[in-house]
Parts: sequence; structure tokens; C-alpha cells
Amino acid sequence: METVSIFIYNFLILSALLSFPFIRKSRGKTRKGAKLPPGSMGWPWLGETIQLYSQDPNVFFATKQERYGEIFKTHILGCPCIMLASPEAARFVLVSQAHLFKPTYPKSKEEMIGPSALFFHQGDYHTRLRKLVQSSLSLEAIQKLIPHIEAIAVSAIESWAGGHVVNNYQEMKKFSFNVGILFIFGHLDSNIKEELEKNYCKVNKGYNSFPTNIPGTAYSKAIVARKRISKILSEIISKRMEKSVAEKDLLGHLLNYKDEKGQTLTEEQIADNIIGALFAAQDTTASALTWILKYLHDDQKLLELVKAEQKAICESNNRGKNPLRWAQIRNMPLTNKVILESLRMASIISFTFREAVTDVMPLFRNIHHSSEYFPDPQNFDPSRFEVAPKPNTFLPFGNGVHACPGNELAKLEMLIMIHHVVTMLRYEVVGSQNGIQYGPFPVPQHGLPVKFWKESSN
Ligand code: HEM
Repeated sequence: METVSIFIYNFLILSALLSFPFIRKSRGKTRKGAKLPPGSMGWPWLGETIQLYSQDPNVFFATKQERYGEIFKTHILGCPCIMLASPEAARFVLVSQAHLFKPTYPKSKEEMIGPSALFFHQGDYHTRLRKLVQSSLSLEAIQKLIPHIEAIAVSAIESWAGGHVVNNYQEMKKFSFNVGILFIFGHLDSNIKEELEKNYCKVNKGYNSFPTNIPGTAYSKAIVARKRISKILSEIISKRMEKSVAEKDLLGHLLNYKDEKGQTLTEEQIADNIIGALFAAQDTTASALTWILKYLHDDQKLLELVKAEQKAICESNNRGKNPLRWAQIRNMPLTNKVILESLRMASIISFTFREAVTDVMPLFRNIHHSSEYFPDPQNFDPSRFEVAPKPNTFLPFGNGVHACPGNELAKLEMLIMIHHVVTMLRYEVVGSQNGIQYGPFPVPQHGLPVKFWKESSN
């Protein structure tokens, strides 16, 4: 029964991803007579998407690479494509010849987030927008968020303790959403935040569902919610403009922007980039945190060592009464290696889409799981990061012009959350511990149901 429901869930996700305009666009581009690498294209229309989403992605991609080598063709998510599982090829596409490869997304997804979000673009507009996003995510800017991220983490943790079952992934999603709101808007009135969250949840569900406008479907509800979010953002912008202070959060940077001709961004461009940033920040970070808790639970000795590292910091902070400092966060060597190893093992973003004559997809997952670059790759071993990985072999945040600008914020929130989880709580994973599901990134099955208790209680 469980397998059937997971299969149906996967099928709905893949249906959602198979949007017609996207398929037609990609098909039209395959040049006649072009010599393609070896591989298999699966069934007509569906390609090999069901095979991918009904098994562990490591198994699917590793089997392909064993059979066809580092560069192979396949047909997934509605797109005939070439997978590149070598660091050199990934670098070629993402860095040295990036101008020849445009990011591609299904049209319905672009409409849902907003077509002006930076990650759909290439060239001048992308560069300008990226600078604004990077400024709001600079090390100087994110340091100021530490006490606020701590407050969000502690309040979430307080609500988990007590021995009831918590869906870890869903809770981490709430956490990463709140951190997203913080870096975008600074502080928001709680009623506006709730309204935004309610509607953003609907958009998020619609994003992962079949794109049809039949009333009552998740997709059509998401379209309504997306319009409502535009209105809420418009109200927030009007209020912000009444203030004369120039805030340093993402909204502040977007509002203050003027190009060389004095042209500002439109309200629509601002809204699309705010929703885009929330979209890029939420599920990725929540998925990584969920895997981290699972890997630590699977290796109790390692968990004890992480606890010792974090408890020493807690002690030196007057038993946690003083806030964490930036210098302390930058000096959590074991916890940091646990994060890097979790990002390698889970490879949350397995691959990324780029469009050329035929679509190509740098396959991060296989590079991260290659024994050539990471000996005994299926073994969770943070100590492997005592030596820096070879260039272009560790790409959890991508590479080149579209590399993740939120990587330092993501690491900061993960370190803060781990610090408080391991110093304040004990936990136990409930039920099956080895399955995998997609939401849309891979997460432990059922979102990793967990019971938490306060560290001091029995
Ligand atoms: C563990 C968490 C995260 C992971 C694994 C991750 C991974 C990635 C990857 C692989 C890309 C490149 C995609 C491509 O080349 O097509 C990317 C892009 C991006 N990420 Fe992240 N990300 C994370 C968290 C965040 C956070 C917290 C933010 C905060 C705003 C963020 C904002 C973005 C944006 C705006 C882009 C698009 C950049 C561009 O197109 O220039 N990400 N992310």
C-alpha cells in the first residue's frame, strides 16, 4: 500500500513536470543527424522518468554511468537530454562556456514563480539582479541575522520537545521559510507573515502538481494564491516606500536599484524575485537539515562528538544564555564537515538543466558519488573533508554564473539549527529509516518522523 501511494505521489510529481510546451520546445531543438552519446530514451513521451522517481536516484544514475560512461543520453521530466557526470564537462557547461547554455524550466513553473526571477535569465538582466541578491546575502549582512535565526530555531525546538511525533521535513520547512522571510523583509507584522505563508504554501503545493486550470486542483488554487501574494507584496512595498530609511534586506536592495538610465525595477520584477528567492531557499535547506538529522541518528558515536563540540560552545556562552557569535559559528569544524558530507551524500540538487542544441544536465550526484573523487563514496564520513575536494568535484551549490548565492546563509542556518538541536534535545527516528521520497528534492521517507525530548528529561 505504502509503495503504491509513493508511486502515485511520484507519478503526480512527474506529471506535473511533464508540461506540454516544455516538451515541444525541447523536441524541436534536437538537430537531425547530430551524433548523440550512448544511452537509452525509455518509453515514448514518459522517457525514463518513472524509473528515476520510483527508485533511489543513486541506483538509477550509477547504473546508467556503469553501462554508458560519464556522458550518456536519457529522457526525463519531459526532456530528451544528455547527462554529464564528469567534473570537466560540468565545468565546461556551467563555467567556461556558460554563455552557450541557458537555464531551462517548464513554462508552467516559470509562470508560477514569476518569469522575471533571476534564475530563468542569462546575460545583463541576470547579472544585475544577481548583484542585488548577493548584496543582501553578503557575509556582513548575514552576520546580523544570527540572533534572529537563533530565536526562530529555539522557538521551533521548544514546540517539538515532549515525545510526540514530528514530521521533521515539514518542521524544517517552517524554519527555512521564516529565515527566508527574515533575509527578504527583515521583520514583518505577524498577520502579514501568516497571510504570506498561507498563500506561499498553496503556491508550493501547486508547483509540484499537474498544471491544469480545472477549479479545485492544487495548480489552480496555486495560481489564485500567487495573485494574492502579488497583492500582499504590493502592500508591503507601499508601506516600505513611506519610510525614508534604506533597509539592507533583499526588498531594500530591490527597491533602491536604479540602472544607468535611472530606471527602477517594476513591482512585478520585485515580486518575482522575492518569490524566486523563497522558492530557492526553503525546500533545499529543509531537505539538507532533514538528511543531517538522519545521518547523525544513524551514527550515534558521531552524534556524541557533534554534541561535545556544540556543548563546549554552549558552556562558554554562559550555558547558552548568551547568543552565538559569528566567530563561534565559523569555528565548528566537526559540525561543518558533517554538513558538507551530508550535502555530498544527499546531493539534494541531483542535476541542473541547461539548454543548448540538445538539453544537457550536469549530474552533480554522480560526481559526488564517484569513488575516483570520494573513496568509499556510500560511506558517511565527514573526515574526508579534512582535505579539500579536488576542483570541480564538490558542487552542492552549483558552479559558475548561476552558482547558489545563498550558500553561506544556508550553512549559517544549518549550523545554528544543529547547535540548538543537539544541545537542547535528544531524538529518535520513528518507523522505517531507509526509504526515500521526492518533495520535489529527495528527502527521507515520510519526511523523517522523529520524537524529540528535552536533553535534561528522561
Ligand atoms: C542547502 C541549501 C541549498 C542548496 C543545496 C542550494 C543549491 C543551489 C544550486 C545547486 C543552485 C544552482 C542551480 C543551477 O545552476 O541551475 C542554486 C541557485 C540559487 N540559489 Fe541555492 N541552494 C540552497 C539554499 C539557498 C538559499 C538559502 C538561498 C537564499 C536566498 C538560495 C538562493 C539561490 C538563488 C537565488 C539561486 C539562483 C542563482 C542564479 O541563477 O544566479 N539558495 N542553489
